[in-house]
Amino acid sequence: MIQNQALMTDGYYQERYRPHIHFTPEQMWMNDPNGLVYFEGEYHLFYQYHPDSKQWGPMHWGHAVSKDLIVWDHLPVALYPDDLGMIFSGSAVVDHKDTSGFFDGKPGLVAVFTHADGDLQRQSIAYSKDRGRTWVKYDENPVIQNPGIKDFRDPKVFWHEDTEKWVMVLAAGRKVQFYTSPDLKQWTYASEFGEGWGEQEGVWECPDLFPLTNETSGEKKWVLPIGIDAGAPSGGSGTQYFIGSFDGKHFVPHQTKETVRWLDYGKDFYASQSFSDIPGRRVILAWMSNWQYANDVPTDPWRSAMTIPRELTLTMVEGQERLIQKPIAELTRLIEKRREHKRCFLKEQQSTELSQPASPFIWELDVEVEKGGVFEGRLFGKQDAGLKVKIDREKNVISVQRDRAELDFSKEYVCTCKAPLNRDISSFHLKLICDRSSVELFLGDGEISMTNLYLPAANYEAKLKMESVRGTVEVKASLIFEMRSIWNPNA
Ligand code: FRU
Repeated sequence: MIQNQALMTDGYYQERYRPHIHFTPEQMWMNDPNGLVYFEGEYHLFYQYHPDSKQWGPMHWGHAVSKDLIVWDHLPVALYPDDLGMIFSGSAVVDHKDTSGFFDGKPGLVAVFTHADGDLQRQSIAYSKDRGRTWVKYDENPVIQNPGIKDFRDPKVFWHEDTEKWVMVLAAGRKVQFYTSPDLKQWTYASEFGEGWGEQEGVWECPDLFPLTNETSGEKKWVLPIGIDAGAPSGGSGTQYFIGSFDGKHFVPHQTKETVRWLDYGKDFYASQSFSDIPGRRVILAWMSNWQYANDVPTDPWRSAMTIPRELTLTMVEGQERLIQKPIAELTRLIEKRREHKRCFLKEQQSTELSQPASPFIWELDVEVEKGGVFEGRLFGKQDAGLKVKIDREKNVISVQRDRAELDFSKEYVCTCKAPLNRDISSFHLKLICDRSSVELFLGDGEISMTNLYLPAANYEAKLKMESVRGTVEVKASLIFEMRSIWNPNA
């Protein structure tokens, strides 16, 4: 265990933990993705940013653009705090028909965000006439005053075709509110949803709302993801979602009040947001950290990363409507080498090892685990430690276990995340996207995802271990893809 805090400031952690296929700010603090939008051939990623420190503080919107959602160019800060307060989370849209009148009849970008002044949270807008490079705040901000609700923030806006209006979904305490507008400037309260619904332990934050067609039934549904700042299955902040219908004003859930659906079962998936204006697919991105320790993760000179962008679809899984998440197809462009291993059988307590490439890499596995059996895969191993992925057909859970980091920065870091497994299924497909300080796990077609930071020991053994802890396991396929890095500090 390294106790010396001085190591944190002299760059010791810089190269080791810097993600190579995930977005990070070049330096300083980042949290939620904001203003995700596709416009004129570019994907925009804005983010909660504190340019003067590696700790959360006066929030700005940092900015980056990409042509493929994988390789990002860093741009100057887009929005600075002002007399109305800090710039908290929000979204951006393409105003195609110039409903706002900001763009002389042409399409342009409008950002909708929360102005936070002490405990006073109000909604404001800004616009850009030059593809997001510079922003003008609307001179009649705020566009929605605070109605007396302390936590009143994170507007997500979209154009609702059927009613030909803009719709905003906004977090308001432990529920969400909906507003509508003809021009992004004047907003009318429509309804609210959520009191007593789903997980209520934490305050609701960063809501989203978008339609998806259920691929099994062909029905159009509305998906409402919501961050909660406490009470997630693995502790701390996490993301739940509701499925229902939406008529432009009211959201009607298709579930009971008690049902809780989790978008991700890991410890580090928060404040997810979907991109606006991408034709033909719904892509989300989340902040890869947890408010329990976000301010203390020992990286330098930056803090926090985003997940790999994921494409969402909706389908029936075991008779239940479920969101499916897949890493976007563009990620495969980074593959440099592919290694395939022969199938093998592991008797009880038998194990086998493969060499583990330097991160980043993807490990895909097909394993057959008999009823009552337990399979364990281990990455970044060191003696008994490492990141352990367990398929347990005795308890019918899949788990990811994370042990102590070298620098003991938070007692919440050590954890075991769990997700339920269907007890009748014996064949499992696993995809693990491994970077320098994170592992994103996708099970099956993506019906379960578990996203976790992982800070490997400096001298971890470069071996991937597979073990049958109980019963017999057949490893039907194991594929390793070595990935090209997108981290270029000199770009
Ligand atoms: C979620 C959040 C948002 C808020 C922002 C402030 O992580 O708390 O609700 O707008 O972060 O940085």
